[in-house]
Amino acid sequence: ASAHGGGPFIAAIDQGTTSSRCIVFDKDGRIVAVDQKEHEQILPKPGWVEHDAAEIWTNVQQVVTGALEKAGITKKDVLALGITNQRETTVLWEKATGKPVHNALVWQDTRTDGLCKELGRNVGQDRFRRETGLPLASYFAGPKIRWLLDNVEGLRERAERGEILFGTMDSWVIWNLTGGPNGGVHVTDVTNASRTMLMNLHTMAWDEKICASIGVPMELLPEIRSSAEVYGEATGELSGLPVASALGDQQAALFGQTCFAQGEAKSTYGTGTFLLMNTGHEPVNSYNGLLTTVGYRIGDQKPVFALEGSIAVTGSLVQWMRDQMGLINSAAEIETLASSVEDNGGAYFVPAFSGLFAPYWRSDARGVIAGLTRYVTKAHLARAVLEATAWQTREIVDAMQKDSGVEMTALKVDGGMTANNLLMQTISDVMDAPVVRPMVAETTCLGAAYAAGLAVGFWSDTEELRVNWKRAAEWTPRMDAETREREYKSWLKAVERTMGWIE
Ligand code: G3P
Repeated sequence: ASAHGGGPFIAAIDQGTTSSRCIVFDKDGRIVAVDQKEHEQILPKPGWVEHDAAEIWTNVQQVVTGALEKAGITKKDVLALGITNQRETTVLWEKATGKPVHNALVWQDTRTDGLCKELGRNVGQDRFRRETGLPLASYFAGPKIRWLLDNVEGLRERAERGEILFGTMDSWVIWNLTGGPNGGVHVTDVTNASRTMLMNLHTMAWDEKICASIGVPMELLPEIRSSAEVYGEATGELSGLPVASALGDQQAALFGQTCFAQGEAKSTYGTGTFLLMNTGHEPVNSYNGLLTTVGYRIGDQKPVFALEGSIAVTGSLVQWMRDQMGLINSAAEIETLASSVEDNGGAYFVPAFSGLFAPYWRSDARGVIAGLTRYVTKAHLARAVLEATAWQTREIVDAMQKDSGVEMTALKVDGGMTANNLLMQTISDVMDAPVVRPMVAETTCLGAAYAAGLAVGFWSDTEELRVNWKRAAEWTPRMDAETREREYKSWLKAVERTMGWIE
């Protein structure tokens, strides 16, 4: 028996980069049950990352069933299903059969680097920034669609005939949930659409001119809807269950952390790290390398915008140390190893595996370890790995303060890496500000559940959700200013060395 207060419940699916999960929540936003399943990371060549969308859909179905079973409930106890997802990852599939035409191109994939340079030629990386809030970079979905159309034989013609559908993972999951080839609804929400580089932030609609410039036929595109409304009903085993929210995972975490007021921010430490600040009802332009993105839109209310600092590689660097280097046996061991030494021994690790994201947006960067001497041990490297996440956070926070004019007095954090105390302390040290973690660290699923619950009237408004946010842990700065500034300089020097590696 669990500690929850009884039904009804809301279930949320988080279709993430490394796994798919489903969490069942009660009315107080407490976790009732979790089920999770990893999927394969397909790495065909350096810089390329793919997922099998069919495998992902199978996993999604299994984790929903699994979570309901673990909760000891049936679909009748669930009022609504919410969706959150890894963003930008691009899948194209056949409308008639539901078969993906190619593996999904994952957000970390850099194969569109050349295409993005080409699109920016003579105009610059900010060619579509005014409309879309995004710089030209291999991260976003639009150029990935173009790559697929150019590289899968006959695909463009089929797309122009209306036989092919595009989706980020929210669309893929919702279409399949609601019937697939038999009447599935082809929709996406404003937050996911804002990561395609095809949606105009000022109209919240697909931008015809940009679609033409990038080479994406509009027949492919899903309908753009709000983040919290009933898109349709599930079919099959879950038949009748309203599918009632969709948000990109980082926006869902912003929502789950109840950052509903302008100036409130959160940072999620997962595969990558994403710091988002609510900027209210107007999109704020960034002059310091951040993204302008949609935070959320509840039904027909006004959309809420955010500034985002995206870091491609944080948790995945720890995984890399474990799986590719074999320097640790488990992710948790990085903390033990790093704690066995006082400092980094002079080593700095810049994990530009997918190029550098914010604030640099350099797809031509590749990773470096700088400052090596014979003195350096694997424990120093472990320390450098954790510091990499901390310094990248600091760079984003600096940019965020410049763009928004809001001083970050404390940072709300969540995600798997927040279990690492040394990391949380280091982040607080290098930011020179407190770091706070809420009781429910699963804010991504929680945000999707909140949005779905609002859509079906389970919760009445965002104020009701705020009271569920409770502080579980806090770290306060302990580093002296001199060390901080000296170390920051060395970090920035190491960052410089990553750039221009790919010609
Ligand atoms: O933009 C990419 C982001 O949405 C991926 O998040 O947590 O699945 O690595 P995550």
